[in-house]
Amino acid sequence: MNITRENGVMTLHGHSLIDIKNKYGTPLFVYDEALIRNQCRRFHTALQQSGLNYTISYASKAFTSIQLFKLMQEENMGLDVVSEGELFTALTAQFNPGRIHFHGNNKTKREIQYAIEAGVEYFVIDALDEIERINDIANQQGKSVKAVLRVNPGVEAHTHEFIQTGQEDSKFGLSINHGLALQGIQQIIASSNIEFHGIHFHIGSQIFESTGTIETIQIVIQWLKEHQIDIKVLNIGGGFSIRYTSDDISYPIEDGIKSITETLIATCESHDYPIPEISLEPGRSIVGEAGMTLYEVGTIKSIPGINKYISIDGGMSDHIRTALYNAQYEVELVDREEHELETVTVAGKLCESGDIIARNISLPQSIKSGDTLCVKSTGAYHYSMASNYNQMLKPAVVFVSDKGVRKVIKRQSLDHLIANEIL
Ligand code: LLP
Repeated sequence: MNITRENGVMTLHGHSLIDIKNKYGTPLFVYDEALIRNQCRRFHTALQQSGLNYTISYASKAFTSIQLFKLMQEENMGLDVVSEGELFTALTAQFNPGRIHFHGNNKTKREIQYAIEAGVEYFVIDALDEIERINDIANQQGKSVKAVLRVNPGVEAHTHEFIQTGQEDSKFGLSINHGLALQGIQQIIASSNIEFHGIHFHIGSQIFESTGTIETIQIVIQWLKEHQIDIKVLNIGGGFSIRYTSDDISYPIEDGIKSITETLIATCESHDYPIPEISLEPGRSIVGEAGMTLYEVGTIKSIPGINKYISIDGGMSDHIRTALYNAQYEVELVDREEHELETVTVAGKLCESGDIIARNISLPQSIKSGDTLCVKSTGAYHYSMASNYNQMLKPAVVFVSDKGVRKVIKRQSLDHLIANEIL
């Protein structure tokens, strides 16, 4: 992210984060728009260099926003949605439905109906009983729909167990090893109103290397060849890692995509199998490092010899990943640069001991109430996982570029909190 300091104050594209805070309030999500666009372009360039036909769909669950979807469309990205709500938001952003595909391990009848009416590009079928459900609804609407089948390759990705999805014991996809995937394909091919379009897999998230994906491509192509099944599309999901702290690695997009696409080409050639179009669904790697959260410091509590708690004006309602995955973050003082550091814990203001942003991190000793903290790499799975726990308001979101600062999502109002209440 293009952060520098001017007179000690953190700035993004020349805009002081203190000015931004004063104008939009805290907690506030701040995105570097140029960085989002740059990530899209890096994936495009890497795939173009492979010479393969390809599509990239942004996994909208990482951060769902109308202005972001408009930006994605400008960057020639498709969209992956998993619910009626994500599809509704995308359609409201006037996203081309022909470039949206619909995921989910339990798509409701209503969602299927809505997606077919909207004219989505394809469904990612996740279960055997879903095939009949989609076929019946398509039939009732007098339409034919495309589908790819999500397979479970039985490959364990090296990441947090909560965000692994390719292991045999998983609610996602149909197992290749247990014969369910083959049964699924046969059932789709036999369906009157579904056209079999290809295969999908997604082995997990925050994966920093390509070995699991490479292994899965080899398994899938060999298996398809063995059963003489041709596909138009191979969707390899998302899961590319980002850097939260200096212990993490940002997925090396150029090198990684090169080895993945070279593996696909070589595997197809060695099995004399027609090379399919490749599709990707990155979420976190598109928006994660481009976003940060600004908070204002409130209470500071020192427990002699034990810890010092710096509490901020948000918490697990806008930052759940520390509580949920014990995720680690870098936090910086925005207002000034100071080198006298001490070990502290940054805590949220919600009524849970687990409501922590970052434990035992180094921050300036001079931090006082009214100062501003910035938590980095909060662009993915923060706003989208925000809640109204403790009736906290969801923060506002701004995009910053060299053209200026623009608000893309307003802060929730107190009226939002009771909008659905029966008074
Ligand atoms: N495709 C499928 C089928 C997925 O399930 C996911 C993420 C993606 C693509 C995008 O993965 P990404 O590129 O963003 O890693 N809340 C968790 C992450 C859950 C990921 C769910 N699926 C977190 O905060 O780490």
